[in-house]
Amino acid sequence: MSRNWIEFPRVEGETSKQAHADLPNGSYEREIGRDGFFGPAAHIYHKHPPTGWIKFEGPLRPRAFDAVGTLANCEPYKFVPLLSNSSCRIEIWHTPHAMPMLARNADGDLLFFVHEGAGDLYCDFGHLPYRDGDYILLPRGTMWRLEPSAPTTILRIEATNGSYKLPERGILGPHAIFDPAALETPKLDEAFKSQREGEWQVSVKRRGQMSLITYPFNPLDAIGWKGNLSVVKLNWRDIRPVMSHRYHIPPSVHSTFVADRFVVCTFVPRPIESDPGALKVPFFHSNDDFDEVIFYHAGEFFSRDNIKPGMMTFHPNGFTHGPHPKAFAAGAKGTKTMTDEVAVMIDTRDPLDMSVEAEATEVKTYAESWIVK
Ligand SMILES: [Fe+2]
Repeated sequence: MSRNWIEFPRVEGETSKQAHADLPNGSYEREIGRDGFFGPAAHIYHKHPPTGWIKFEGPLRPRAFDAVGTLANCEPYKFVPLLSNSSCRIEIWHTPHAMPMLARNADGDLLFFVHEGAGDLYCDFGHLPYRDGDYILLPRGTMWRLEPSAPTTILRIEATNGSYKLPERGILGPHAIFDPAALETPKLDEAFKSQREGEWQVSVKRRGQMSLITYPFNPLDAIGWKGNLSVVKLNWRDIRPVMSHRYHIPPSVHSTFVADRFVVCTFVPRPIESDPGALKVPFFHSNDDFDEVIFYHAGEFFSRDNIKPGMMTFHPNGFTHGPHPKAFAAGAKGTKTMTDEVAVMIDTRDPLDMSVEAEATEVKTYAESWIVK
């Protein structure tokens, strides 16, 4: 396969010199891009808003649903599937009490994002306390269990048959976005050593099927470990977002973990662009090689109406999306100086399927929320 894209910036008609800034008077900029903001892209300057549709028909449409709301119909400890494809499974999970057994995922690395709750993780590598806003990355095959001190809701993202790595830092240098020293690892501390002895079971998931292994002792019995593979934890509060006061940087700059066929980005509070000509809200775009998912954790979501924490939006590729009319108008006025949203974005290279559980909590009028009333 060739990596040799056709490379040329051409200019036709009336355009801006710089993407996302100083647009021709009264125009709406739409970015058509490949390779998730890294490939060739064009900016088209339109007379009308690219999201100014009046009707959506057929299976393709922007979708929103209450991810946390799906838990209401499910028993504790059950992972509720939300969206999936062959390389990525996105699920939500609630556990009010300590897990009665250990778990192990043989299907790929697991990434947890703690939406609510606090407690302790015990795993092969030791003990690690957790709180809301933590990412916990469990390498494939790790044995683990949680002991919540407060009922815990977790967004679970499986890199099916794959692994998570850190994004390239490029010219930002190795300490940008978050210092790798901020990644915490478990400790073989007193809490780890004083776990219950006796019989323990490990529930193993392989190829989506569950098996049970029973030990007459507690297999979390490490007296030491060494190496460069471990469970790691990162809280969003340790992420220092990159921004430009003159240019709205694409969401790829917020990449936190990168899997083989998808990327996980974190939106955290940051100043809003201050240059008078710079766009103050996400630009209209068709990210044509990727499906885009956002899980809303906390704050006010400046580009979305009627979205509350715990909800998820799913924008399959194939249409342009961008700020809602009200958010676009507020951005143009430029009264807000900081964003206060915390959200997890998952962009997948392959199309995602939505579960029946997610569909049951879908906001069916979401596609219409762009219509100017
Ligand atoms: Fe997008």
